[in-house]
Amino acid sequence: MVDTSDEWITERTGIKERRIADSSISTSDIALEASKKAIKDAGIKASEISMIIVGTITGDMPMPATACLLQKKLGIKDIPAFDINAACSGFLYGISIADGFIKSKSCKYILVVGAEMLSRFTDWKDRTTCVIFGDGAGAALLTGHNGKDGILSTHIHADGNFSDLIKIPAGGSQKPTSELTVRERMHFIKMKGNETFKIAVKTLGSLVEDTLKHNGITAQQLSLLIPHQANKRIISAVAERLGISEDKIMMNIEKYGNTSAASVPIALDEAVRSGRIKPKDYILLEAFGAGLTWASALIRW
Ligand code: COA
Repeated sequence: MVDTSDEWITERTGIKERRIADSSISTSDIALEASKKAIKDAGIKASEISMIIVGTITGDMPMPATACLLQKKLGIKDIPAFDINAACSGFLYGISIADGFIKSKSCKYILVVGAEMLSRFTDWKDRTTCVIFGDGAGAALLTGHNGKDGILSTHIHADGNFSDLIKIPAGGSQKPTSELTVRERMHFIKMKGNETFKIAVKTLGSLVEDTLKHNGITAQQLSLLIPHQANKRIISAVAERLGISEDKIMMNIEKYGNTSAASVPIALDEAVRSGRIKPKDYILLEAFGAGLTWASALIRW
């Protein structure tokens, strides 16, 4: 399709495979599959859920929210359901909001999903982006308890001064869809990758340091760092700056590419299912994406 090579993609990104959804399904469908697994593992009924939050920038349609479409598919009535547009940080923004509602005892069970179909917004003629993005979904069910463990803190940030670095220029109020916007391929993701890369390494390093400091723990006490899977080199550079060894980092970018808001919950799910997380472990989740946005959560499992 484009002038690239397996060698370039592997060396520059760490990606070997990606998942691309069949054209017959949409974001809410894969969100549903992930949600069903989370609900089953939590051992509750869908009707017990009190709020649905979906992090996505590639929802089924501009409106209504994909969270509402998911709610319908789950057969749940009359609970709040909304999407978060924080790109790759969307799942962690959702976790942060859910944590607040749980800790204030306003909600008992909150479903937080990260679901994306980036393949539908990828310009397959643009080699700087089309080798990176993939489709996927992950979900978590949050609830409260009386102990001290669980989510210790969440940290969410944004700086709109960098909004030009990653965007889908058309299809909104600024550039509504027209023949011109379609012809000029403005409905696809545009990214200034190299600039974003440098800011990501710097920002994520400080974010992880601040999250640890806030909780009075050291990088050495971390059992697992679960980063957004944007680029293997970003993950390694952040880990090196913090002195975290590779065996304490969850990395699965080689299988899925960059799945934006879905990447952290997919990696978290794989870490749990493969036994990499044990009770009392300190787990740090972090992400960085369009906006720019960035977010973290420290969990005592
Ligand atoms: N195949 C081959 N060559 C490619 C290519 C591809 N798929 N894509 C770009 N190139 C070329 C460029 O044209 C450039 O060529 P030039 O030196 O002749 O001008 C060269 O490779 C280097 O490009 P550059 O953009 O500097 O590469 P990079 O090392 O920064 O890697 C990314 C590109 C996109 C992989 C990397 O910048 C990245 O991952 N950025 C961060 C993305 C991110 O975190 N986003 C936020 C969350 S979504």
